[in-house]
Amino acid sequence: PRKIIIDTDPGQDDAVAILLALASPEELEVLAITAVAGNVPLPLTSRNARVVCELAGRTDVPVHEGAKAPLVRTLVTAEYVHGKTGLDGVDLPVPKMPVASQPAVDAIVEHIRREPPRTVTLCPLGPLTNVALAMQSAPDITERLAGIVLMGGAYFEVGNVTPAAEFNIYVDPEAADVVMKSGVDITILPLDATHQALVTRPRLDAISAIGTPVARAVSGWLDFFERFDLEKYGHAGAPLHDPCVIAYLLRPDLFEGRHINVEIETASDLTRGMTVADWWRVTDRAPNATFIGKVDADGFFDLLTERLARLK
Ligand code: BDR
Ligand code: CA
Repeated sequence: PRKIIIDTDPGQDDAVAILLALASPEELEVLAITAVAGNVPLPLTSRNARVVCELAGRTDVPVHEGAKAPLVRTLVTAEYVHGKTGLDGVDLPVPKMPVASQPAVDAIVEHIRREPPRTVTLCPLGPLTNVALAMQSAPDITERLAGIVLMGGAYFEVGNVTPAAEFNIYVDPEAADVVMKSGVDITILPLDATHQALVTRPRLDAISAIGTPVARAVSGWLDFFERFDLEKYGHAGAPLHDPCVIAYLLRPDLFEGRHINVEIETASDLTRGMTVADWWRVTDRAPNATFIGKVDADGFFDLLTERLARLK
C-alpha cells in the first residue's frame, strides 16, 4: 500500500475522508494523522480526529497535534459550516485514545525521513500550516516526498469564504505559498472539482442504508452539512470536499485536471488566499501543480459507499 499522512482539521468532510482512507488498507497505509487549526480550533480538530479513529476501531493510528494558528495571520474558523464542535450532526463518545506525544511537525518530518525516498504522500485537508512548518524546519523532506495531494483553492468556482478564496488557502495563505513553491509534485482538488461531488438525497440514502454505526455517523454528519449548503448555494446536495483527496489516490481515473502554474495571493486584502491558476496557460510561469477540474461524481460516490460499507 501507498504510505500517507493525513493533515486535517475535522470537519465532517475531513472525517469522511479519514474513514475512506482507513477503509482502504489494501491501497493506503495511514502512517499518522496530524491535526491543525482550521474549521475549529486545534483542541477540537485533535479531539475530532480521535473520535473518528475510535469510531473506525483504529486507535493504532497516532493522532498528533500541530499548529494552533496560521504562520502569520490570526486564525479564522468555520463553526457556521461545521457547528460548534466541528463535527456536529451526531453524538459520539468523548475519545479515550490519547494524543500522540510527538508534535505534528516533528512526526511529519520523522516519517518522511524514516521511510524510503519518494514513498510517503502527504494529504492536507485543512490550512497548510503544519506542512509549511515541516518544510521550513526540514527542507530535505521536499526531495523525499512522493507527492502532496491536497484539498484547497478554486478557479472557475472561485471562493466559498470570500469572493476570491477557498477556506483552506484563505486561512493560511503564507503557508500555502511555501507549499506551492516547494517543488514537490502537487495535486490540488479545488472547489471546481469538489462542487461536482454533491451529496444528493439518493447518495445520502445509499450511505444510510449500509446501516452500520459508521454509516449512521456519516449520514448524521452529511445531513448537518447539507443544511448549511442548501441555504448558501440554493441547490440540494452539499459538496463533499476532502474525501476527493483520498478518492483521487484510490481511483485517479475518476478525475481530470491540468498540470499548470498556481500561485497564491498573499499581499492583497481583497483577494487574500486566491489560487491564481493559469488554467489557459497564458503565462510562461512554470507548472507546479496538477489542478483538478473534473470528477466523475457517480463513480466517486459508488467508491465511497462501497468502502464505508467495509467498516463496522
Ligand atoms: C474546505 O474547508 C473546510 O471547511 C472543509 O473541511 C474543506 O477542507 C472546503 O473549502
Ligand atoms: Ca478540511
